[in-house]
Amino acid sequence: MATRQDNTISNIKTLNYDSVIVGGGGSGMRAALQLAEGGMNVAVITKVFPTRSHTVAAQGGIGASLGNMSDDNWHFHFYDTVKGSDWLGDQDAIEFMCREAPKVVYELEHMGMPFDRNPDGTIYQRPFGGHTSNYGEKAVQRACAAADRTGHALLHTLYQKNLEAGTEFFIEWIALDLIKDEKGDINGVVAIDQETGTVAVFQATNTILATGGAGRIFAASTNAYINTGDGLGMAVRAGIPLQDMEFWQFHPTGVFGAGVLLTEGCRGEGAILRNKDGEAFMERYAPTVKDLAPRDLVSRSMDQEIKEGRGCGPNGDHIVMDMTHLGVDTIMKRLPSVFEIGKNFANVDITKEPIPVIPTIHYMMGGIPTTINGQVIVPDLEGPVDEEGLYTEGKIVKGLYAIGECACVSVHGANRLGTNSLLDLVVFGRAAGKHIIDNFSSSDHNYHPMNPRVLDFTMNRLNKLQQSTQGYNAQDVADEIRATMQKHASVFRTQALMDEGVEKLLALQEKVDNIHLADKSQVFNTARIEALEVANLYEVAKATMLSASKRHECRGAHTVLDYERPEDDAVAPNGRNDNEWMKHTIWYSEGNKIIYKPVRKVPLTVDYVEPKVRVY
Ligand code: FUM
Repeated sequence: MATRQDNTISNIKTLNYDSVIVGGGGSGMRAALQLAEGGMNVAVITKVFPTRSHTVAAQGGIGASLGNMSDDNWHFHFYDTVKGSDWLGDQDAIEFMCREAPKVVYELEHMGMPFDRNPDGTIYQRPFGGHTSNYGEKAVQRACAAADRTGHALLHTLYQKNLEAGTEFFIEWIALDLIKDEKGDINGVVAIDQETGTVAVFQATNTILATGGAGRIFAASTNAYINTGDGLGMAVRAGIPLQDMEFWQFHPTGVFGAGVLLTEGCRGEGAILRNKDGEAFMERYAPTVKDLAPRDLVSRSMDQEIKEGRGCGPNGDHIVMDMTHLGVDTIMKRLPSVFEIGKNFANVDITKEPIPVIPTIHYMMGGIPTTINGQVIVPDLEGPVDEEGLYTEGKIVKGLYAIGECACVSVHGANRLGTNSLLDLVVFGRAAGKHIIDNFSSSDHNYHPMNPRVLDFTMNRLNKLQQSTQGYNAQDVADEIRATMQKHASVFRTQALMDEGVEKLLALQEKVDNIHLADKSQVFNTARIEALEVANLYEVAKATMLSASKRHECRGAHTVLDYERPEDDAVAPNGRNDNEWMKHTIWYSEGNKIIYKPVRKVPLTVDYVEPKVRVY
């Protein structure tokens, strides 16, 4: 095991680790566990106490074809995920994830994760949107659940196992920048301790970004306030591009007016969405699986009902979810948190009346491009392009991995299926840890003696805020970003709206660059943290809006009214245009440059799933 050293360079503390992981949620802790159990010296830097990470919000289950309660196997899971992704997901990565799923779930079970049980002792599984048996024939029970607290149970399990394995946690720290050497390799991160304001350099042979999503770029979001895209901001500042950022998932059932998530597990247990006439309208949009269609389709259908005047409430501006027929026993056993959320956030007793819901931003399908092992990979801009002008070759960024929601492997493509996020965290967290163990030993360090210059960039950012005497309030600027995203990158988009959104966002640069920090104190200065987060929010928002405005088709969660086509259009079914747009977007912050790379179409062991019209 490497020796941890505390050096001091210009009063800045330096800590040395084999691996430093930024983010203490499901993926970060799964990777940390793999590494710590493999004898590596691991630090996890986390903005909040690990069990309060946003993974906690994945309530309904983790997808795995255990087949405990209905006929299932990984081929069905693979097919559903490819179809759910609207054929933008890379089929080798999807196959890897779906094949690994049963193994990683059983591992969690053996770690002590308290899954609900069937009478025969096997893990309880509920249906979830877009998960089917026999290639779309009927809904399947694939979501392995711990009531409606699956993410919560996962975090507690992984945290305890990490304590046992000796992982070191830096809690309520925030990582600010990657340390990049002259060769472009990553040697660690610079981070700040919120409690004291102390800045420290974490040098490491390998750095893993596991910072989760960035749903706080939108005004209404199911995401925790911590989800500000910090890992993406760090990557972008190190010159790394972001992939497929136009694809953002709206979860159909955020509590109307509050945004808090009501799990898809509600519909898994039999909840029904109704319009103002009480009609179970999903039967019209998805005749086979109805309320258990994937999220992009359900969200669009809900918005369509509202647009056509069948919304609920005095303003006709929401839909209701009806669980009254499930019975008190099922609700209290399977959905106890949903019952609490109903009472606390909507003043509704869900056992007695339907609850108002609205599609709400939930998940970022894009992120930092990676290989199946989690290594960050960027297009080789000097390498070849194919006949369509796509960059076919990539370069590994040495020393850097990304996993979980901040990464784009890509398994979710243009639309993620519910339960595949917890699965993604665990499968790719484990894979990244394993890759490091297999390729590095605790004694080979690629970091060099610290050069104080590596800190200049970060210290300049911190000092600029500290010395500011005037400028813009961080939360006002963040609110402007959020309002722009909410209006210009919503469930239904138009080319004109997106183009206007791009202009509005680019005009915000001056404000983002000139934030005024009024409170200069060091101890728990949350205003400083929020000011630093604005830079991250802004990069993610620009990546999203620019990438969206350039994709001239409808695919998954990216629905642009200008490009809608009839279902029987063979070239562009439902507006999806495979001839021209089955490709990944790559956005560079510098110059807002966009290039494209091919979708990986060759699965590992099975046949390619040919694209077809996506109906449910
Ligand atoms: O609805 C939910 O329980 C959320 C799960 C997910 O996003 O995968």
